[in-house]
Amino acid sequence: QKRKVIFSGIQPTGVPHLGNYLGALREWFRLQQNAGADDALIFSLVDQHAITVHQDPKQLRQWKKESLAILLAIGLDPKRCILFHQSDVPAHVEMMWILSRQASTGYLGRMTQWKDKTTNLIRGNSTSADTPKPGLSLFAYPVLQAADVLVHGATHVPVGEDQVQHLEFSRELATSFNHSYGKGILTPPTTLISPAKRVMSLVNPNAKMSKSAVNPKSRILLTDSTEAIGMKLKSALTDSVEGVTYDPAVRPGVSNLVDAILYTSDGEYGSQEDVVRDLQGASMRALKEKAAESVERAIGPVREQYFEFIADERMLREIATDGAERAKQNAGVVLKRAQRAIGF
Ligand code: ADP
Ligand code: NA
Repeated sequence: QKRKVIFSGIQPTGVPHLGNYLGALREWFRLQQNAGADDALIFSLVDQHAITVHQDPKQLRQWKKESLAILLAIGLDPKRCILFHQSDVPAHVEMMWILSRQASTGYLGRMTQWKDKTTNLIRGNSTSADTPKPGLSLFAYPVLQAADVLVHGATHVPVGEDQVQHLEFSRELATSFNHSYGKGILTPPTTLISPAKRVMSLVNPNAKMSKSAVNPKSRILLTDSTEAIGMKLKSALTDSVEGVTYDPAVRPGVSNLVDAILYTSDGEYGSQEDVVRDLQGASMRALKEKAAESVERAIGPVREQYFEFIADERMLREIATDGAERAKQNAGVVLKRAQRAIGF
């Protein structure tokens, strides 16, 4: 079997939430546990993506540390994985510039995330403190994302559903670059989507759970206490229909909680139908309590680990320095090859 290079990233723009965990981070851990000895596992805290909207410098620095501590807390082993801050490895941005030639501005403008984000910025729903006008970097960031995966020669990229379109774009850039400059220079990666591909907001179950949503009750953080988890789920928006059923289009709030129970159940339930059968006549209150228990069981251990790791600044610094070194080495291979191909 061919050697796998697994790459993914998360923005250090806050403590990761349940959606990040079920949609991405837990899959990263599973991939680590199932990886072959030759496979590479590369996970980045993508601070270059974070700065496509205004960030408070002090806050960003703190979030970078916290996000690294979370990666360790979910069980990623720095001996087995390359864990690094994106801005420590300039090859990402260099590769982005090279790829920008192949990136169609028309296509970028039609991407869902660009349309969503600019709508929010223009409507003033953004939390950013500076100008609400979207900048060039926000428009161009799918190209940076393509560079992230391509410069590491990724063969597999585990992400939530919101990133599928961007991964498709990465494949197109790789193919069009290879078409212009030579076969096999860049590797079009395969997208791996988690079963819990889209965890929804607790206050607006028609939108995905997100770090950047204004209402903190909309998301469960991996650092939330048992009480906070219980409170947030208690105030989750459901509906006035009696009983528990699964129908995301008609009952998004209830279905989101059924999903939360299924995907945190650790094999106790095999499908949404199993959860529904178990909770058939249950009240909304009972459904929420069940969800709180299940979520706590899944993320409680992560929280305990997190508080140990975040207290050890020196260890975090050493892991980041070592990760940056190894990431530079790995990214250097494809960057060199691409630079040669274009005539540098
Ligand atoms: P956010 O959108 O919350 O800022 P990121 O953009 O940093 O999160 O995404 C990190 C990873 O988490 C990506 O793989 C993304 O697809 C996944 N992800 C983010 N939000 C969700 C969600 N609500 N449900 C499932 N996966 C998600
Ligand atoms: Na996102």
